Amino acid sequence: MNGIKNITMYHIYDSRGSSTVECQITTSNGIVSSIAPGGASTGKKEVASFPNGGVDSSLSIFNSKIKKEMLQWEFGKQKEFDKFLHELDGTENLSNIGGAMTTVLSLSYAKASAIEESVPLYEYIRRLTGTKLSIPYVLGNVMNGGRHAVGGPDIQEYLSLAMGKSARESVEANYMVHKVIMEKLKEKGMKAIGKGDEGGWVTSLGNIQALEVLSESCNYVREQGFEVYPALDLAASQFYNNGLYRYREQTVDGDGQVSYMVDLADKYNIKLIEDPFDEDDFDHFAQLTEKIGNKTVIVGDDLYTTSTERLKKGIGKGSTNAVLVKVNQIGTLSDTIEFIKLATMHKYKNIVSHRSGESCDNAIAHLAVGCGAYAIKTGVMGGERVAKLNELIKIDENRSM
Ligand code: PGA
Ligand code: ZN
Repeated sequence: MNGIKNITMYHIYDSRGSSTVECQITTSNGIVSSIAPGGASTGKKEVASFPNGGVDSSLSIFNSKIKKEMLQWEFGKQKEFDKFLHELDGTENLSNIGGAMTTVLSLSYAKASAIEESVPLYEYIRRLTGTKLSIPYVLGNVMNGGRHAVGGPDIQEYLSLAMGKSARESVEANYMVHKVIMEKLKEKGMKAIGKGDEGGWVTSLGNIQALEVLSESCNYVREQGFEVYPALDLAASQFYNNGLYRYREQTVDGDGQVSYMVDLADKYNIKLIEDPFDEDDFDHFAQLTEKIGNKTVIVGDDLYTTSTERLKKGIGKGSTNAVLVKVNQIGTLSDTIEFIKLATMHKYKNIVSHRSGESCDNAIAHLAVGCGAYAIKTGVMGGERVAKLNELIKIDENRSM
């Protein structure tokens, strides 16, 4: 089997203008590349994106130590390769070479291996996950707040969950919700201030007013024949302090937050709620899942940070019924797949996700299809979000599953 002919690492920028890395691998059959995304509301337990010296320090370690090691590798040994990345780093949280670097090495290696095996990336990933291929539902970010917007609501993401029969139908449904929101705002004599990091509208509406607009817009698009429902990512660790959740309209404790979520889900027909509690509060997550988990998808993002260890704790307590999957939270494809497999084994839904700082790398569309994910969460507007949606449509329309 062929191996890496050449490998180059570049210091480039993401959709927010933050430094990141791109890895290019040359094989005898062509060049592949991967770009690391970056978060703004990162979980405390995520691996470190870069060593202390930042991107340039990551790059100088690569050029002085890692590059020549890479040239020894043949393709198709994903698990061994990812284990080797951990050995090269030597720390628990990948802080020596940085999780951004291991992410792009791991994903470019997967892309190159898929080419060598003459299969699409989603099929290469399916072989690693051992699941059935499927086209995920599409979770689109239509209004932004929290860390992704200035002047918006405290709730970070107002989402639309499109449950179409095809990727195209889901993607179109979310575009419609995004457009209808603008119309509704005009009707109400309000203005969008602009767009946030993930392409959703930013308004000066309060948390509940924004939810009303989302819910009305989803209702309207459903009347046009599309299955689409409101969803929220609260990223609640960002407005949690000392046992209290501080919204601009009110302050509630953990129990109050459980009741609040139950009421909102009921009143606004919310189908999915991500990170409604602080990232270490496994118990209140479990209370909410116990109460409404039979009809609402309860997702852990900052709660799990794609870590199998943290997911084991969540499973033990019944904290959620779904997980968010972000490769760069844990640093390699193999660790991500281990996490997905554990979630699947316990009938938790997998939702493969972008980050708020993104590029046109479309690998997560393949990951979502190749692990049989319930949904892909990758925004609605902006070239870096659309790149994944278009890839998903193409996979759907070309595949023979
Ligand atoms: P991020 O957040 O800014 O860390 O990418 C996205 C999310 O909370 O889902
Ligand atoms: Zn989140």
